Amino acid sequence: MKTSTAALSLALYAQGIYAFPRAMYDTAEHFAALQKRAGPQGGAPLPLVPPPFDPALQYVSNQGQYKFVPPGPLDERGPCPGLNALANHNYLPHNGIATIQQFVDATNKGFGMSRDLSTFLAVYGAIVDGTGTGWSIRGTPHTGISGSHGNYETDSSPCRGDLNQWGSNTDLQITQFKRLYALQPNAATANYNLDVLRTFRTQRLTESINKNPYFSYGPFTGVAVSQAAFTFIYRFMANKSSEYPEGRLDKATLKSFMSIQGDDNNLKWVPGNEQFPDYFYKRHPTDEYSIPYFQSDIVYFAQADPRILIPGCNKGKVNTYSALDPGTLSNGAYTAQQAAANPVCFASAFAKAEATAFTGLSTSQLAPLFSALDSATGGLNCKAIGSVNQTALAACPGFSFYGGPNGPVAPGAIQN
Ligand code: HEM
Repeated sequence: MKTSTAALSLALYAQGIYAFPRAMYDTAEHFAALQKRAGPQGGAPLPLVPPPFDPALQYVSNQGQYKFVPPGPLDERGPCPGLNALANHNYLPHNGIATIQQFVDATNKGFGMSRDLSTFLAVYGAIVDGTGTGWSIRGTPHTGISGSHGNYETDSSPCRGDLNQWGSNTDLQITQFKRLYALQPNAATANYNLDVLRTFRTQRLTESINKNPYFSYGPFTGVAVSQAAFTFIYRFMANKSSEYPEGRLDKATLKSFMSIQGDDNNLKWVPGNEQFPDYFYKRHPTDEYSIPYFQSDIVYFAQADPRILIPGCNKGKVNTYSALDPGTLSNGAYTAQQAAANPVCFASAFAKAEATAFTGLSTSQLAPLFSALDSATGGLNCKAIGSVNQTALAACPGFSFYGGPNGPVAPGAIQN
């Protein structure tokens, strides 16, 4: 396994997905050495060197026009804590419904998300799950994130429950939060970095297999989107400082962004009250979190748990998980090895091949989505998938393209 994950990393490395000067990572030995270096982010290879810290450029105000205002009864708040926090502080419209441009600007202003990544995420959401130009951070099928179960929102998320395990994909499950929280027992040194999160990623995947009979881990939602739900926790929520320019995510900051209140013996989720803590500093403008950065984090996660690179599902009972062969799914366009070596390619080629069928939109209506997908994967020389084998997907009772915020609890689901 070691050989194949190393080969995988090197394949991505060779494709130049790490957006840094080549001279800095010219040899495999250097790359391996970097991976061994444990920075505040953990052993993840990026950033190659600590980024600069400039408080004036990185401070995110939670005062004045940006002061926290909890959502009212007509305001939408969904499964994404980052977008909920942005709406609560008026970086996004307070009602939780925004345009593509508003998502791009707000995620950059509040967290330092690179515009390649946010454009891709927001265009996909607006076209597949919204009006074409905007969408809701909660919503229902075809209006927002909470209704996007199977095409965007997905199972085995960090703190949100699986739709058919709990009957909701939007509620935070306090048992899940507590398991994450417990991974760093010492409050004085706690840092929920990528090493902690990749451990939690593996735990959550296993937990969904063990407890959700309809667990579905799709080619786009599972392989790509669901890793973001984990990496974003450290990459965006960690507070940057001169001591920790890469960021440190302590217990109080994690609770604030996850809308958790109470002391350690009495942790409670307050729906929709995600907040920027005082004195929060986002990523430095020269160190924004981009698509190549994200893909390097997926590779880092996969080194610990190669299951994350291959789609799969439970067959209607817990612990019936098996992988879906990418070769069968893509009608031969990708072998399993090619899919694992190019997770973003496989995920986006799959989304592209399926989009007309599941959205009901025409190719011309989908043109902006295809162009966003193409530019997101521009440097990767991705192979297209001509058609998807629908019969292979039919083996997964939990596979859907739309669903939520609520849904049936599957017979045999385990809730604890
Ligand atoms: C345009 C930008 C964004 C879009 C479209 C987006 C969309 C989503 C979606 C669809 C999910 C559900 C994923 C799942 O079911 O596992 C999600 C979850 C999540 N998002 Fe976002 N997001 C965006 C920006 C951000 C930002 C800036 C943060 C910063 C903290 C963030 C943090 C998270 C986290 C931590 C989760 C997982 C929540 C949990 O289960 O505990 N997202 N987001």
